[in-house]
Amino acid sequence: MPSYTIDFMNIAERMRSRRDFLQQISAAALIAGVTPRALISTSHRTDPTALPPNQSVPVPGEEGMLLRSFRFVDLETPVEYFNSWLTPVPHFFVRNHMYEPVELDAHTWGLSVGGEVEKPLTLNLAELGKFETHEVVNTLECAGNGRGLFRPQVPGIQWGKGAVGTARFSGPRLRDVLQRARVKSTGKHVMFRGLDEVPGKVPPFIRSIPIEKALDADTLIATHMNGGVLTKHHGFPARALVPGWIGAASCKWLTEIKVLDAEFVGNFMNPGYRYPNSPGKPGEPVKPEDMHVLTGLNVKSVISGPVDGASLKAGKVVVHGAAWAGEADITKVEISTDGGTSWSPAKLGHDQTHYAWRLWRYEWKAAKSGDHTIWSRASDSQGRVQPAEGVWNPSGYLNNAYDQVKVHVA
Ligand code: MTE
Repeated sequence: MPSYTIDFMNIAERMRSRRDFLQQISAAALIAGVTPRALISTSHRTDPTALPPNQSVPVPGEEGMLLRSFRFVDLETPVEYFNSWLTPVPHFFVRNHMYEPVELDAHTWGLSVGGEVEKPLTLNLAELGKFETHEVVNTLECAGNGRGLFRPQVPGIQWGKGAVGTARFSGPRLRDVLQRARVKSTGKHVMFRGLDEVPGKVPPFIRSIPIEKALDADTLIATHMNGGVLTKHHGFPARALVPGWIGAASCKWLTEIKVLDAEFVGNFMNPGYRYPNSPGKPGEPVKPEDMHVLTGLNVKSVISGPVDGASLKAGKVVVHGAAWAGEADITKVEISTDGGTSWSPAKLGHDQTHYAWRLWRYEWKAAKSGDHTIWSRASDSQGRVQPAEGVWNPSGYLNNAYDQVKVHVA
């Protein structure tokens, strides 16, 4: 039955205290010439962009990442890194709503499973490791990815295009653990709680998913990412992995699973992570009753090269990038170099699984010198097509406007 063992190597190293981490990050920022004042945001709501866009800071272990918030560590992946099907862990975006846990001891960690179950249980890491393991290659995207590109601007972390990445996650199926606890017929939703350190009066990061998604064969309690033990930034020792859904569904540092008879009521379900039922006017508020909780991701593509502002030689230019569609599959990526008058299909990459992005490439014959704009748009198996404009919403979620880069051909 046991199909893998958890590798405890280097765990002590990974378990740096937050103070050490913040000291290192401050030092790194100073080396990069960023003043601490610019980095330390007093509130991620009032000072969302800790750095000017596209400034990269050498965060230890997370080289080349863009620091979007210093307070709780929010790191964005520069789009140039989206050139491999699996995103290397050091280049995988990090999204924290609060402080990462200071103490994470693999030997004392436990996961409780309770609520609407016949047989509540608590599992330690070794016991969790005895469940059959399952692998899912999943594109994880933060619902707020692209928020910084909405106009009018909305409050929150001003993510550019890189709060997304693809990794091979593995661990037991959530369904197997729930089956061991024997879910009652009254169990309709499954709540996750992580070990985040909750600052002051901030509500804890607790969310729930419907029982159908919890029992899906691809929903995991992931302990590994790209073949290695989860790092602290990504939820060591175990996280929920809810494939195809907004990243917020995949709770890190998981310590409690509770089966509920109704959706969890709390800040990160309402008003957080809600989306208008129908598009409104940009900049206008939306009534709470006209919103629903976010689940699956949109259809979307991003251009990873050439990069915005590149100077190119006339001739053949390879335009490349990635495209994903949450619970749907990508069917097509198209490129326009003439402002949308004509679109040409890109070639989709071979690597493919249900919840993972497809890499794509397109050979553009850049004949005319001058300034050009390249657009990409994706289509999916649900018939969705990436729109020219994302649907503006007060929290800046799910921005899936065509991607575009401006280049100069000499
Ligand atoms: N889980 C906990 N416990 N605390 C968090 O702040 N952030 C969520 C989710 N899980 C979060 C969490 C959000 S908003 C996202 S997008 C993903 O984690 C990001 O996962 P990553 O940091 O591994 O990329």
